[in-house]
Amino acid sequence: MKTLILYGSKHGCTEDVANTLAKQLNRPVEVKNIEDANVDLSSYYNIVLGSSIYAGQMNKKLKKYIKEHEAELKEKAVSVFLCRGQADDQFDKVLKENLPEIYDSIKYKGDFGGEFRKDRMGFMEKKLINMISKKTGGEEPIVSASAIQMFVENLNNE
Ligand SMILES: Cc1cc2nc3c(=O)[nH]c(=O)nc-3n(C[C@H](O)[C@H](O)[C@H](O)COP(=O)(O)O)c2cc1C
Repeated sequence: MKTLILYGSKHGCTEDVANTLAKQLNRPVEVKNIEDANVDLSSYYNIVLGSSIYAGQMNKKLKKYIKEHEAELKEKAVSVFLCRGQADDQFDKVLKENLPEIYDSIKYKGDFGGEFRKDRMGFMEKKLINMISKKTGGEEPIVSASAIQMFVENLNNE
């Protein structure tokens, strides 16, 4: 059975990470964007869900999909990764708040960092992240290749 990577991304960072994961996994993988996909989970056993975080929230469509497919997802091996700007210790809290239905059954969790893709942002988003950047001394988030590698190794070593 193929592995499914199903992601929700606003500015493309999570999408790129989903494709990176697919390349590094040692098995047949399908990558699907929640925006395009009418996903039938019955074709998959291993499922990786990926989302970015905006104002503390995961992608709404992905969350809705997870809620609607809770029972089916609980019968599968589900791993979750987040792309987010805050490099803090709140990852589990964010995950639990966003995915109360499946949190306890998540197999592997990935906190991958993120990117500010200013070229794709509107005026308000740019203003907001400039305010955040000022608070963090101008430091911007980065995607953690080592966190991705650890997540992939867990899956590849099964
Ligand atoms: C308007 C805005 C709000 C954000 N809010 C949060 C947040 O609440 N927590 C967080 O960790 N990161 C936050 N981020 C950072 C994004 O999660 C990060 O840039 C991520 O890599 C975006 O992924 P995407 O390109 O797939 O949408 C925010 C970014 C923007 C532009």
